[in-house]
Amino acid sequence: MALKDRLEARRRPEAGEHTSIDSPLTVIAGARDEPKAVAPPVAEDMAPKSAGLTSTVATAKAAIHALLVERHADEIDITDREGVRSRIANLAEEHVKTAGITLNRLDYGHLVDALLDEVLGLGPLQALLEDPTITEIMINNPHRIFVERRGRVHLSPVVFENAGQLRQVIDRIVSTVGRRVDESSPMCDARLRDGSRVNVVLPPLAIDGPCMTIRKFSRDKLRPDDLLAIGSATSEMIEFLRAAVRSRLSILVSGGTSSGKTTLLNILSGYIPAEERIVTVEDSAELQLLQEHVIRLESRPPNVEGKGAIEIRDLVRNALRMRPDRLIVGECRGGEALDMLQAMNTGHEGSMSTVHANSAYDAFSRLETMVLMAGADLPGRAIQKQIASAIDIVLQVERVRGGARKIVSIVEVTGLENGETQVQELFHFKQTSVDNEGNAVGLHTATGNRSIHLDRFAERGETLSEGVFEAPAFSGVARG
Ligand SMILES: Nc1ncnc2c1ncn2[C@@H]1O[C@H](COP(=O)(O)OP(=O)(O)O)[C@@H](O)[C@H]1O
Ligand SMILES: [Mg+2]
Repeated sequence: MALKDRLEARRRPEAGEHTSIDSPLTVIAGARDEPKAVAPPVAEDMAPKSAGLTSTVATAKAAIHALLVERHADEIDITDREGVRSRIANLAEEHVKTAGITLNRLDYGHLVDALLDEVLGLGPLQALLEDPTITEIMINNPHRIFVERRGRVHLSPVVFENAGQLRQVIDRIVSTVGRRVDESSPMCDARLRDGSRVNVVLPPLAIDGPCMTIRKFSRDKLRPDDLLAIGSATSEMIEFLRAAVRSRLSILVSGGTSSGKTTLLNILSGYIPAEERIVTVEDSAELQLLQEHVIRLESRPPNVEGKGAIEIRDLVRNALRMRPDRLIVGECRGGEALDMLQAMNTGHEGSMSTVHANSAYDAFSRLETMVLMAGADLPGRAIQKQIASAIDIVLQVERVRGGARKIVSIVEVTGLENGETQVQELFHFKQTSVDNEGNAVGLHTATGNRSIHLDRFAERGETLSEGVFEAPAFSGVARG
């Protein structure tokens, strides 16, 4: 039997990924007392610190915890230790006054610490979550944690004591957002309050112990100037993209996992004029549009019984009834592609989305497959025609050698010939070598092809600088 089949066979068929529990904090509190079928051993430093509290303090602690659940259950952000501490401290102060008890400084400190541990209790992970320079945390097993910093992945010196400690931290994290992961449903996706995304896989599916991947949400989204500073694009490319967005060309950002698609979509959305009505549709709300006239929609996973899911496609269809000028679909993965293409072809030009693909051509064939998934009984040619008339520009993003993220190609759809979408490339990144540290060395250049939309840009008052599309006269000239 193939490995995949064996794994599938071991997975219980009814195992759902999403479980809903009402109050996240109640769960945290309860998780400790609730006997589990296979209770993981609790490492020393994960044990509740409340054990040695005096009875007055213990009573106060229970009362304050109840207050915390009642008032702030929805707002606890586990990556913000200080924020949680100050909420707890405020409630503690309030409780001490209303209950008329006196606590000495030491007891008060213990009380706040014990509550903080009870709520967070993330052990070694806490420091990694709070470190703003870390963008991704990949826990392969308790003793191997990789982190990504500035595009580079390193093995972190941080380790868990054992699988039990890691397991407990995992339970904490997923339970704060009302999910559960255990032997009967060993895979779980969750989004933390701060927007970070978490994926957990437990044994026996994960062979070497529990694993968890956390994509941290960055509050400080990159701006166009950052792309220039980092070398992800040149000023000519940015200038062209700005004109393209403002002139309502429809754009598809294509790339692999974590290549920077959403970040780029966010940057491009920033160029949409303030007076336009924008509706965004996402699986987990990551976009941070600065305009005021924005409506954000987010899909919903099914509940425990596998019911109640609201798919991206449902939202896209609904979004079209909301009179948007532009539709932004966080990522096209399935049937929503058809609705999005139709929208782009019927008055919602200037819409944007991302797709997981390795090249512009690959992006088109992915779109075609997705349209077929939509169950539309359209012949291949008709689908290609829809795609070619809907999409104006495809941006390919990539993590190049060494981890830097770059726009590696900008192509423009020029038409349809013999049922095939035709494109011309305007800009690309050419890697020439690799430096001593294994980083890609190369440069972005214009190809010399001029955009077919120059008239449209002019009509809309989007003037481009002289020479934007000019290829360098000789190789070795870095632009921007
Ligand atoms: N051009 C870039 N340079 C450096 N880091 C980037 C760049 N684009 C994105 N990132 C970072 O890479 C990570 C993944 O980006 P994201 O846009 O979410 O990728 P994707 O949507 O392709 O999965 C994020 O932490 C983001 O801040
Ligand atoms: Mg993304």
